[in-house]
Amino acid sequence: MITKIFLVVLISFVWAETGHPSFDQPIEFVLLQEGSLAKIECIAQGEKPLIYTWYNQIDNEITSDANNAVFSRRTEKGCSLIFDAVKSSHAGIYTCIAKNRHGSSSKTYDIAVNTTSGNITINETGTIDKVEVVNVTDESVEFSVEISGEYDSFYASYKDKLEKSETVKEFKKGERVLVTNLSAGGLYEFQFQIESPLKIKLPSKTFNVTLLPRLPDVIFRSLTNGLVEIEWFQTFNETFRGTIDHFELSYDRVQQYRGTYWTRSDCEVNIKLSPRCLGSKYTIAGLSAGSYYEIRFRSHTAAGYGKEYVNKIYSVSKQ
Ligand SMILES: *[C@@H]1O[C@H](CO)[C@@H](O)[C@H](O)[C@H]1NC(C)=O
Ligand SMILES: *[C@@H]1O[C@H](CO)[C@@H](O)[C@H](O)[C@H]1NC(C)=O
Ligand SMILES: *[C@@H]1O[C@H](CO)[C@@H](O)[C@H](O)[C@H]1NC(C)=O
Ligand SMILES: *[C@@H]1O[C@H](CO)[C@@H](O)[C@H](O)[C@H]1NC(C)=O
Ligand SMILES: *[C@@H]1O[C@H](CO)[C@@H](O)[C@H](O)[C@H]1NC(C)=O
Ligand SMILES: *[C@@H]1O[C@H](CO)[C@@H](O)[C@H](O)[C@H]1NC(C)=O
Ligand SMILES: *[C@@H]1O[C@H](CO)[C@@H](O)[C@H](O)[C@H]1NC(C)=O
Repeated sequence: MITKIFLVVLISFVWAETGHPSFDQPIEFVLLQEGSLAKIECIAQGEKPLIYTWYNQIDNEITSDANNAVFSRRTEKGCSLIFDAVKSSHAGIYTCIAKNRHGSSSKTYDIAVNTTSGNITINETGTIDKVEVVNVTDESVEFSVEISGEYDSFYASYKDKLEKSETVKEFKKGERVLVTNLSAGGLYEFQFQIESPLKIKLPSKTFNVTLLPRLPDVIFRSLTNGLVEIEWFQTFNETFRGTIDHFELSYDRVQQYRGTYWTRSDCEVNIKLSPRCLGSKYTIAGLSAGSYYEIRFRSHTAAGYGKEYVNKIYSVSKQ
C-alpha cells in the first residue's frame, strides 16, 4: 500500500510537469453528517480545460441535474459533488475523474455517514466479477464465484421453474459454492449478489441451470415371440417443466460367464425416444428366444444424461 501511494505521488509529480491531470491525494476519507447539506470538491492539477465526471458507489455517472438528491456542479476550481440532505445510504466509494487532452486521472472518495443516532455507516460496495458453473448433478450445482471489494460474503438466491418462492443462501468469500438439495431435472434460476437480496436490490448476475434428470422408473413385460414391452414414468412435475429432451433405450444380448460375469455381444441397439411424440411405452421386437438381454434406459436434459436404469430379461418363445 505504501509503495502504491508513493508510486501515485511520484507519477502525479511527473504528470504535473507534463500537463496530465493529477491529484495531490489518490484517496480521501470523508465523513458526512446525516440530514445536512454537503459539498465535496474535486480539484485536479493539469493543463486546462479539464473535464470532470463524478461516479457513485455503483459506478453510475452523477449528472449536474439539481433535481436529483445527489448532483454535481462545476466550480471555478474544479467540480463539486452535492448532497441535498445526506442519508446513510449515500455512504460508499465515489470516484471523480478529471480529463484533458493529455489523458485522465481519478480520485477515490470513501464517504461514510454519521447518522443522527451517532452511528457511522460505511458502504464499501463490492461486485460479483465472475460466475461459472463447475459441476451439475441431479441434485446439486457447484459454481466458481469471484468477488471484489470490501465484502467478505455474497448471496445466491434461486428457485426452480415450478417453485413460487426463492431460497437464499449466504456464502463466505473463498468458500466452496455448492448448492445442494435441488430437484432432479429442475430448471433453476440463480441470482448472485453482494448485498442480501432481502435488503436491497443491487444489480445481480443471473444464471439458468438445468439439472441432470433422475434415475427413471421403468417396468418391462416380456411378451412371447421375441417381444418386450418397456414402460417408463414421468411425473407431472417433469412433464410440466419439460427439461427432459429425450430418453435413450439400449439393449444388447448378454451371456453369463462362469456363473457370475456377464459379457455383451457387442451388437448394442440404441433408440432415442422423444418425450413429446411417443407415449411412455415402447416395444422391442426380434429378440432371440432362449437368450438373456440387458436393457438400459436413461433420460437426458441440457446438462446431459442422468443415472441409468439397468436390468436383464430372458427372452422366451411360445411353442
Ligand atoms: C450502499 O450503497 C448502495 C448503492 O447506492 C445503496 O443503495 C445502499 O442503500 C447502501 N447501503 C447502506 C447500508 O448504506
Ligand atoms: C455524529 O453525530 C452525533 C449526533 O448528531 C454527534 O453527537 C457526534 O459528535 C457525531 N460524531 C462525529 C464523529 O462527527
Ligand atoms: C447504533 O449502534 C448501536 C450499537 O452499535 C445499535 O444498538 C443501534 O441500534 C444503532 N442505531 C441505529 C439507528 O442504527
Ligand atoms: C460433481 O459432483 C459430484 C457430487 O458432488 C461428484 O461426485 C463429482 O465427482 C463432481 N464432478 C466433478 C467433475 O467435480
Ligand atoms: C412438484 O413441484 C412442486 C414445486 O416445486 C413441489 O412442491 C412438489 O412437491 C413437486 N411434486 C412432486 C411429486 O415431486
Ligand atoms: C432439503 O430440503 C428439505 C425440504 O425441502 C428439508 O427438509 C431438508 O432439511 C433439506 N436438506 C438439506 C441438507 O438442506
Ligand atoms: C432464465 O430463465 C427465465 C425464465 O425461466 C428467463 O426469463 C430468463 O431470461 C433466463 N435468463 C437467462 C440469463 O437465460
